[in-house]
Amino acid sequence: MKAISRDRIREMQEEILHLKKQKNAIILAHNYQLPEVQDVADFVGDSLGLARKAAETDADMIVFCGVNFMAETAKILNPDKTVLIPDTGAGCSLADSITVEQLREWKRQHPDAVVVCYINTTADVKTECDYIFTSSNAVKVINAIPPDKEILLLPDKYLGMWVKKVTGRENIHIWDGACHVHAGMSYEEMKQLKETQPDAELLIHPECGCSSQCLYNSTLNNGIEVKILSTSGMIKYASQSDKRKFIIATEVGILYPLKKKNPDKEFLPANREAVCEYMKMITIDKLLKSLQENIYEITLPKEVMERAYLPIKRMLELAN
Ligand code: 13P
Ligand code: SF4
Repeated sequence: MKAISRDRIREMQEEILHLKKQKNAIILAHNYQLPEVQDVADFVGDSLGLARKAAETDADMIVFCGVNFMAETAKILNPDKTVLIPDTGAGCSLADSITVEQLREWKRQHPDAVVVCYINTTADVKTECDYIFTSSNAVKVINAIPPDKEILLLPDKYLGMWVKKVTGRENIHIWDGACHVHAGMSYEEMKQLKETQPDAELLIHPECGCSSQCLYNSTLNNGIEVKILSTSGMIKYASQSDKRKFIIATEVGILYPLKKKNPDKEFLPANREAVCEYMKMITIDKLLKSLQENIYEITLPKEVMERAYLPIKRMLELAN
């Protein structure tokens, strides 16, 4: 595919800003989005921040630069607004690791369990959940559930193992799902990296294959020190830390907002190949087309929106 020139990108950005104003639209973008897309967004953040922004906006239209489950969450929070996603192919391997039928079957096996589900799930799956959580508030949501209650946590096994370790709770059953971008990041790899960069701080997303082992080892005498954080948590932490150098274990799109907010600090990707092809489907030309032609609109059955709203609302109330 032919690369778009810097001048054309600038032209398109201007058109986007003009159309956005004309249509009273808001552009919400995830931290992994392409730099030129982030630069025209009204808000750039993690899943929780984006859900909060979607919940409070008074714009008539939301153009969501992220993946489908995020745009669906924005629609569930705004059933009467137009929510667009510039490319409907922007899926999520983690959200695809459980279907609503599989969840119903799992619930049949544990009829008394509370169902706690990561925001990276389809709207259909959310209809069968009691609570939604994100990487920012997972521990808070789990701690809000009475300790004697059995929990079904889905769909990310690595995030689930990390939550289990942090909360020290044994009665959590974890679904065997994972994100293809994060799953391969191993403890050995992180340890080696840290040895080559002893003055850098290691920031890890809980979806990474190494998150619970890194956390466990960080408590040992000779273990490496790590911080397990959401994408926006990493940006906030890096801004406040006295350290100058950080190893970042998550999708590489995060490097742009990290550097933008901390121009004098250094950020080294744990894995340069950690690219989410779904996030990168949202390009500046598709964003412009989306605003010009009002495509592609997120539509969900009314019943699905009503049922999926309750666990999302619980999450937002807990997060406040
Ligand atoms: P955050 O909510 O931490 O941004 O994570 C979302 C995601 O999809 C990570 O892969
Ligand atoms: Fe989904 Fe993984 Fe992409 Fe995040 S990085 S959107 S979890 S596929």
